[in-house]
Amino acid sequence: MIKTPKHKVYVTRELPDRGLSLILENFDAEVWREYIPPTKDQLKEHISDVEAIASNVADKVDGDLFDAAPKLRIVSQMAVGFDNIDVAEATRRGIYVTNTPEVLTETTADYAFALLLAVARRVVEADNYVRQGKWTVGWHPSFMQGRDVNGATIGIVGAGRIGYAVAKRAKGFNMKILYYDVAPRPEMERELNAKRVDLKTVFSEPDFVSVHVPLMIETRHLVNEEKLSLMKKTAYLINTSRGPVVDEKALFDALVHHKIAGAAIDVFEQEPTPSDNPLLKLENLVVAPHIASSSYETRQKMSELVAINLISYFKGEIPPNLVNKELINKNIKII
Ligand code: GLV
Repeated sequence: MIKTPKHKVYVTRELPDRGLSLILENFDAEVWREYIPPTKDQLKEHISDVEAIASNVADKVDGDLFDAAPKLRIVSQMAVGFDNIDVAEATRRGIYVTNTPEVLTETTADYAFALLLAVARRVVEADNYVRQGKWTVGWHPSFMQGRDVNGATIGIVGAGRIGYAVAKRAKGFNMKILYYDVAPRPEMERELNAKRVDLKTVFSEPDFVSVHVPLMIETRHLVNEEKLSLMKKTAYLINTSRGPVVDEKALFDALVHHKIAGAAIDVFEQEPTPSDNPLLKLENLVVAPHIASSSYETRQKMSELVAINLISYFKGEIPPNLVNKELINKNIKII
């Protein structure tokens, strides 16, 4: 029997073992094993003869990278978002792009809700207070009052899978649910009694505004000074989508001048955010280092999907999570 050589894959970070072992079994794979990501130049050195790249949100995958990988056929991204990839350029070159939706929906929604609760009920501030030895008076009626989540109104900006999953959690807290999306979500209205509103109202009426849009030209700085000024002084902003969806300077201004009550964000305009980012000085802000989908179980599933998308592509099938579906009809040779 003639053995055909395995396809060459470059894996830009050490993936959780479920996906990584599948990739190592099925491909001639090389893995960047360091914790610190490769620079663009380092990446380019490793991809000159690969047919596939397993990427993640911290890799800039663009025409420049494609130029360094003339045999590249597919980019399999470990994330639902793919704003780090120039998909239009990939499509122009006939390169497939896949992502890992669905498996991270509930986990990301859990984290958005954790942030919401943390900022409203001052969980992080309280933890610091006790640890720093500031808790010198046992109990006082007006001490560290937060705001109620139960019974409050939430505004969901972007009612896709994650927005919907956040709304389900809000329903459990007996919240009134408003949402803004370009398309109506009848099942969300039916099942959760959610109300579709315009972009102004989703900022102006709620006590909590949670953002769940992908980063695109249209959504860059969607949450800007104007939108923040629509919010109630007592309202909170939660962002688990992408940093650049929120104008950080405008957010700083809104928080420092108490134009809104607080914010909780998992994502920044620049990641990692510099330690001297003025936002980090504010007490009415809860921050996290882009980890909303980071549970053990979900990261395993995401890595497995990265592998499944690659395997299915090289079997000549349409990968289950193809992003640039317009390539399907282009009759491109995929093996
Ligand atoms: C993470 O940010 C993702 O897009 O999955």
